[in-house]
Amino acid sequence: MARERSTYRCQECGLAAPKPGTCPDCARVGTYVQLVEERIAPARGPAARPSVGATRPQPIAEIRIDGGGHRTSTGMAELDRVLGGGVVTGSLVLIGGDPGIGKSTLLLQVSRLLAERAGPVLYVSGEESAAQVKMRADRLGPAPAGLYFVAETDLQTVEGHVAALAPRFLIVDSIQTVYLPGLESAPGSVSQVRECGARLMVLAKGRGVATFLVGHVTKEGAIAGPRVLEHLVDTVLYFEGEQHHAYRVLRAVKNRFGSTNEIGVFEMGARGLTEVPNPSGFFLAERPKDAAGSVVVASLEGTRPLLVEIQALVTPAGFGTPRRTVLGADYNRVCLLLAVLEKRVGFPLQSQDAFVNVAGGARASEPAADLGLVLAAASSYLDRPVRGDLVVLGEVGLAGEVRAVTGLEARLKEAAALGFTAAVVPQSSLAGVTGLALDVQGVGSVDEAVKILLGP
Ligand code: TYD
Ligand code: MG
Repeated sequence: MARERSTYRCQECGLAAPKPGTCPDCARVGTYVQLVEERIAPARGPAARPSVGATRPQPIAEIRIDGGGHRTSTGMAELDRVLGGGVVTGSLVLIGGDPGIGKSTLLLQVSRLLAERAGPVLYVSGEESAAQVKMRADRLGPAPAGLYFVAETDLQTVEGHVAALAPRFLIVDSIQTVYLPGLESAPGSVSQVRECGARLMVLAKGRGVATFLVGHVTKEGAIAGPRVLEHLVDTVLYFEGEQHHAYRVLRAVKNRFGSTNEIGVFEMGARGLTEVPNPSGFFLAERPKDAAGSVVVASLEGTRPLLVEIQALVTPAGFGTPRRTVLGADYNRVCLLLAVLEKRVGFPLQSQDAFVNVAGGARASEPAADLGLVLAAASSYLDRPVRGDLVVLGEVGLAGEVRAVTGLEARLKEAAALGFTAAVVPQSSLAGVTGLALDVQGVGSVDEAVKILLGP
């Protein structure tokens, strides 16, 4: 007898759900989940035999890589590093970012470089006309011969162009503007984005075309469209930055061909994006010398040390709850650290407003920046500067203890390279570390660090 089973399935993205309601995959689209009756017929005849198909398990040691895995350098060291050492043949890379952050500019520059080295490159834009792209390209200098452009949104036509031109690299700007005419829903809808993504994946793998997709970012900061797109592609990069600052950071959040810890730093200028091989120098360029409330921390982005300046301004508050304003660091973390400073060192911060800013639009989000944040606040409260040639690092615990950080040597090496001569670090990180170029002082508690750097 046939069994009957009720399931719910999202009309839009096909996701099975245990109960009706909002689809977890395309929640923003509305409540798309509807009832589907599935009839499961009992197996007939002799028990189904397992079939041996075309695939065969193979010892991993014997698998040979042919063709795939070949990397091409983009000629942009910052991008190459984020990709894990260049663009992999046949890979699908998704680049997300806020509007106007410079995704199209970055990809046009990459296209130019790739066209010079290993063309042809096909740039497909569904957002801008040929004239608009040409204007942007002219700002960047004369275009190389192997760079082709088409303003097109029909994905089948794009597939035709790829077949005819046989490019080695394909750029689709953006995945939300291309569509498959066979599907009823509008371009940018969940099913269009998912299907187009899958088609482009087949195209990339089948023809060995390395493909870059531009993805729009929602208000919440995720790439718009289904999460399934992020699962599908090989690499997901986010291009970030502050609107009023020229610097941009390219960050890998998923990478099948490399580490996800790497970042690439760029500066947006009148002639497009330029690489910033020395971001620490960039972030410290305008640092005031010997100003109270300014502390430099050595943070680590992936394998890359980055020196950033933390500024704090602590001033007597009016009545009521004191203000806490934080830019470039985690608000709750700063509140926690101010509480530690109050309770463990005895600063009466309840009566003080505190403003914290990470200079240049950089971010200090890792725990190793804790001690720097605390010392910047203490320095501003006491109105005594921390010496200018010193870097600080250490995680701070609620008992006021200073905890070990990772990558001490890399951080201190970067500091030494930029002319810093002294460092205050967690005592526990110093065990077994020798031959450091700086004058290093280990501390065990916040209280101790404040006394050493700002006096009793
Ligand atoms: P764009 O690449 O169009 O952003 P996205 O594709 O992410 O939406 O970048 C647009 C911004 O970059 C725009 O505000 C102008 C600026 N820009 C420059 O400052 N210099 C340049 O050389 C170029 C090409 C753009
Ligand atoms: Mg764009």
